[in-house]
Amino acid sequence: MTLVKLLLVLTGVVSAQADQIWRPDFLSASTQFYGPSSPTGPVIVRPTSTAASVTTGTQSTPGGSSTITTKDGTKIFYKDWGTGQPIVFSHGAPLSADDWDAQMFFFGSHGFRVIAHDRRGHGRSSQPWDGHNMDQYSDDLSELIEYLNLTNAVLVAHSTGGGEITRYMGRHGTSRIAKAVLISSVPPHLIANIPKPVWDGFRAGILADRSTIYRSMTIPFYGYNRPNVTSSQGVIDHFVIQCQQGSIKAHYDTMTALSETDFTDDLKSIKIPLLVMHGLDDQIVPFPFARQLSHQLVKGSQLVTYPGFPHGMCTTHADVINADLLAFI
Ligand SMILES: *[C@@H]1O[C@H](CO)[C@@H](O)[C@H](O)[C@H]1NC(C)=O
Ligand SMILES: *[C@@H]1O[C@H](CO)[C@@H](O)[C@H](O)[C@H]1NC(C)=O
Repeated sequence: MTLVKLLLVLTGVVSAQADQIWRPDFLSASTQFYGPSSPTGPVIVRPTSTAASVTTGTQSTPGGSSTITTKDGTKIFYKDWGTGQPIVFSHGAPLSADDWDAQMFFFGSHGFRVIAHDRRGHGRSSQPWDGHNMDQYSDDLSELIEYLNLTNAVLVAHSTGGGEITRYMGRHGTSRIAKAVLISSVPPHLIANIPKPVWDGFRAGILADRSTIYRSMTIPFYGYNRPNVTSSQGVIDHFVIQCQQGSIKAHYDTMTALSETDFTDDLKSIKIPLLVMHGLDDQIVPFPFARQLSHQLVKGSQLVTYPGFPHGMCTTHADVINADLLAFI
């Protein structure tokens, strides 16, 4: 589709009715690859509760948030709250650590030390021109984990963050990590199933009018185009505000990083307990090509699927997701 047409579709999106929202050709066309959303899941495996690991001596950063400076001079912002076993949260694109509000509060209140960083070029981290790729993201995460000297940590990731932690485990190992969770995540290799023109459409939208594309992204992200789903203007605003803190270069490049990086070998290297959680009505990273495959590639991993839940289920169904995360951790 032409950029002009894309813009015409996106303009008017903001005030349109929910069921008319988010029908740019590049995504409508992709539904033929996705197939219809499935009301029931092929696999539902509830995680069995395991005894919580005991960790002592974990002390959060004084002041609750700070930055580290990576080897290439990039400042990475992070929050570090509470005491106990550390949980490190890795956010989706083009969001920030604030997307974890519902989890940070919950787990911080349940005896965990909760840490969430803003990826380079996102949120409050600095905005370098380069380094918006999975190797660098995982190196940045490694620098943070080393700096904080975390041990027995749990990695919890959403969407693009799932790529970041998967590459981290493949590239830096799991000596400091006890367990990991991939929620609505991009591995193993998105572009193998969602073709490049879809990502070209996102990139064109970001260059043309990224504020509008962020607003329109919220509709499929939270399932607001589905019947019976009540949209929240507050959730939409929270999403857009996070996006607008980030840099256009980072957001442009990250579309390539999240779609084209192949995580197959990283996944195969994972030997620690892994939980894969996925909403069956995910319209951003559809189930059949992502979580299900990640689950199959990691021996002994657990898969939990959620009929009707959208990509942004950590926000829309935080109570369910938090309870299942707690049971796994
Ligand atoms: C890092 O943590 C380990 C285990 O908790 C501890 O033995 C070690 O002294 C710590 N290192 C530093 C530099 O604080
Ligand atoms: C949604 O609404 C349809 C009717 O429009 C109804 O049949 C269906 O049961 C509803 N689903 C839920 C989850 O409420």
